[in-house]
Amino acid sequence: MAAERDQLAKMAVDDLDREQAERELARLARKIAALDLAYYNADAPEVSDAEYDALRQRNAAIEKRFPDLKRSDSPSDRVGGTLSSGFDKVIHRVPMLSLANAFSDDDIREFVARARKFFAHDRDLTLEFTAEPKIDGLSASLFYREGRFVQGATRGNGTEGEDITANLRTIGDIPDHLSGRGWPEEIEIRGEVYMTHADFAALNREAAEKGEQTYVNPRNTAAGSLRQLDASITAQRNLKFFAYAWGVTSRPFATSQYEAVHRMGEWGFIINPLMIRSGDVDVLLAHYRDIEAQRATLGYDIDGVVYKLDSLALQERWGAVARAPRWAIAYKFPPEQATTILDRIDIQVGRTGALTPVARLRPVTVGGVVVTNATLHNADEIARKDIRVGDTVVVQRAGDVIPQVVRVVKEKRPEDSHPYEFPKKCPACGSDAVREINESTGEKDAVTRCTGGLKCPAQAVEQLKHFVSRRALDIDGLGDKQIAAFYAQGLIREPADIFTLEERDEQASEKLAQQKGWKEKSVSNLFRAINARKHPDLDRFIFALGIRHVGETTAALLARTFGDFATFERVVREAGEGNAEAREQLIGIDGIGETVAQSLMAFFANKRNREVVDALLKQVTPRRHEPEAVAGSPVAGKTVVFTGSLEKMTRAEAKAMAERLGAKVSGSVSGKTDMVVAGPGAGSKLKKAEQLGVQVLSEADWLALVS
Ligand code: IVH
Repeated sequence: MAAERDQLAKMAVDDLDREQAERELARLARKIAALDLAYYNADAPEVSDAEYDALRQRNAAIEKRFPDLKRSDSPSDRVGGTLSSGFDKVIHRVPMLSLANAFSDDDIREFVARARKFFAHDRDLTLEFTAEPKIDGLSASLFYREGRFVQGATRGNGTEGEDITANLRTIGDIPDHLSGRGWPEEIEIRGEVYMTHADFAALNREAAEKGEQTYVNPRNTAAGSLRQLDASITAQRNLKFFAYAWGVTSRPFATSQYEAVHRMGEWGFIINPLMIRSGDVDVLLAHYRDIEAQRATLGYDIDGVVYKLDSLALQERWGAVARAPRWAIAYKFPPEQATTILDRIDIQVGRTGALTPVARLRPVTVGGVVVTNATLHNADEIARKDIRVGDTVVVQRAGDVIPQVVRVVKEKRPEDSHPYEFPKKCPACGSDAVREINESTGEKDAVTRCTGGLKCPAQAVEQLKHFVSRRALDIDGLGDKQIAAFYAQGLIREPADIFTLEERDEQASEKLAQQKGWKEKSVSNLFRAINARKHPDLDRFIFALGIRHVGETTAALLARTFGDFATFERVVREAGEGNAEAREQLIGIDGIGETVAQSLMAFFANKRNREVVDALLKQVTPRRHEPEAVAGSPVAGKTVVFTGSLEKMTRAEAKAMAERLGAKVSGSVSGKTDMVVAGPGAGSKLKKAEQLGVQVLSEADWLALVS
């Protein structure tokens, strides 16, 4: 059967008969979907761009010959990893966060220590944590109104997912009606959709018997099954669901994580039996070993253990950073390893010009996935491990992270091998590639950088990819491949071009529609997606600019602090021009260090960057960042400075609390400060506040104000 399938794959499109065409379209749909998943959702791509394009072209050619055989899940209707149409969007009123990772016992001990430190002032508090398996599936959100399942969604980018209600309804573990009692009128249950090993094996047996492409792993298969436009296909896949979290709720229904999950169990959900609760780190770590020992016999994939602070009140106080709660952490299992041969080392040029060496490997299966590439990080790393072309190497892969080369098997090294020489020129533009000297340490940077700036096509393309990526402007249907193609054709050279694409060239849509894999419908969808992003949130916009050292957290902090783009840009530029007050304002932001400040100033001092930003601002208007209208918060939008020691809470908690209430926390006192909260031992900041006539509060005053 497999031989017959291979034969089919090699036949010229014109030679296929109807029945063969049908089978071939099925194979291609499956293959391309799996590659898309690997490319967009997992690690590095599994085939070259050329091979991928050839598959798409073949699919289109067969469809052209047999239009009535076109499948409902045809790859022609998809752009990159996402369906260009089909599912409605769902906004997550409570964002779906991800988890910070831990890789060692020490990381967990530190996590617990961080919690103890954060709540150090609450003397009699005993902190407890839950520990449960981390299911390797896909998170989903299930909205129940008056006990009835009314809407289900994917996680998407965390704030916006896709409406897959019909697909989720086919899952037996997801009740249509909640049972038991005491559930809130409105409750959004969250958890993981997954596929068991047994069902995965059965599905693959079936596929093999039919001569179809087999599936890669249970997780990807579950993902593909959930995003079927035709829910009857989902229904055949026997997916399962574990409930472990919740989002919107019309009223509190528990006081602890442990209790909340067990309530969900009473309402008819399957909850994982391996959850425990303890205040003893050693018990929590022993549970990790326990779960790890059972891993192979559980019957479903897990990739670690999740620890959560148990008290919901304390979770709320501890809060979240950027995309993950502070009160939870995932302790990942150690990665799986395999041995293979390193055929070649390629150099990739990143968004900021960093040259990253990538190992091209003989395909090898690691943890159920075929690996062909691994990152080599930088020149020092290659030298340290003495990695050479032709070497036999041990590679490892952990979850979604890019595979890595762990070490060389020296005994197997070919005799004629020679040490790898890192290139001195950028392979994309030929500019000098240099290692900068770190000013504070005086040492050479680990990273070799291309000095070509935006005139380097690789940097320009990466910058554009970053700009449209999920966590930045999140433009649907404009994936890495499309960006690279548009750049190569000269259609998009800088961010502003994205927004003028439609008007710039009346024939643009026609040109686009002629490209492989694009139809008129996907072109109009693309323009719709682009136009939907003309008023991005300020934090996303700042992050999208791709300024070095400005990640999401920093971008959000800058947005909160400055409120609008013009003010942000003005202060940074003035600071860069040596204006002392502006400089102080910038450095004074609690959370902005010298490195970030330097990087911001350097970015706006660069003429080319300013041109790019100015052109962009003609097309796009970032939304003003409104201080979170925290109902009744007396400090929303106010700038607060904490100084001296606090007694009722730690400085970190005071800061977190102020920010939650919509205040900006600054590290220095200036004319822009609204209030200074001064504890015992306050010195120069208090003095300055008094000089400037800024309101000064004691810790007790502050607590009275905000409680
Ligand atoms: S809690 C606010 N618990 O892991 C915390 N997540 O890496 C929300 N996951 O997106 C997540 N098992 O899809 C939680 N027992 C578990 C989990 C779990 C799997 C997934 C989930 C999440 C991802 C974060």
